[in-house]
Amino acid sequence: MSHKPVSLTEFVLDEQRKYPKASGDFTLLLIQLAAAGKTIASHIRRGGLGDMFGKTGKKNTSNDEVIALDEYSNDVLVETLTASGQVHAVASEEMDEIHHVTKHTGEYIVFLDPLDGSSNTAYSITVGTIFSIYHKKSSMLARGIEQVAAGYILYGTSVMFVYTSGGEVNGFTLDPAIGEFLLSHPSITIPKTGSIYAINEGNALQWDTPTQEFMAYVKKQSFSARYVGSLVADIHRTLLKGGIFLYPADTKHPHGKLRLLFEVNPIAFLIQQAGGVALCGMDDPLAIVPSSLHQRVPVVLGSKEEVEYYRSLL
Ligand code: AHG
Repeated sequence: MSHKPVSLTEFVLDEQRKYPKASGDFTLLLIQLAAAGKTIASHIRRGGLGDMFGKTGKKNTSNDEVIALDEYSNDVLVETLTASGQVHAVASEEMDEIHHVTKHTGEYIVFLDPLDGSSNTAYSITVGTIFSIYHKKSSMLARGIEQVAAGYILYGTSVMFVYTSGGEVNGFTLDPAIGEFLLSHPSITIPKTGSIYAINEGNALQWDTPTQEFMAYVKKQSFSARYVGSLVADIHRTLLKGGIFLYPADTKHPHGKLRLLFEVNPIAFLIQQAGGVALCGMDDPLAIVPSSLHQRVPVVLGSKEEVEYYRSLL
């Protein structure tokens, strides 16, 4: 038996071989995303040594302050994907408009949250990149169910690349010694039930009745509270340990906070492929026809048991 770890490149090449008609374009796209992730990771690692935490003085479409590291991450990803020849268009949480590739155009549309939770980097807290891939025949406002693949790159105590192209969810850890993502978490399945909840409790007074009832229930059950405030970190833990993540609508965030195309759809796709449940109100977020590029929606997702209980209260 071989003890050689499987690299992300080997893994996606192997997947490609299962489809004799595959052109290799998707494989290359994933490899380029991973390459951009390594570049971003190395900059984040420099922390306060660089000049990356400074505010640019700009606000993005979602009215978030843009820091230099947001701009840098966005540029690295957009440039890498544009140069890859695999992309038809790129949309990013950091860009008002869709970037249409005109030269060396490819088959895929990519949605990016280049550096989710970026305000946390100033405190050396885990952040992440979220990506969502569609075929170019999909509309730019396609339902999440049409995603070809989705995943995230987590910049934490280790750097991880977690993705699904439908079917399995697999996780790869960056081995800093060789600069390669190696398969460390094959076939991730989310536990059917967990004992951790993640929600911004600062919004408690603004919650609706079902959310208040649900929170009373998890406290009665002595769940543990964990909330990083970086979606990728909170989701990664939920995926591996189970439990529930909530960013519901409340009176302060009447449409929720997270963006459907850049955050909710890719994460919902991953969670569902791992055997969990994702809800937007009573509905599956992946069934929603987006009304605009930067649309926000409420979301509740995680282990089947907890999310179904939440649904039963609605
Ligand atoms: P941003 O990318 O603007 O830093 O937003 C972070 C997101 C997401 O990562 C996290 O789950 C959520 O906002 C946290 O929001 P609250 O601070 O309102 O809890």
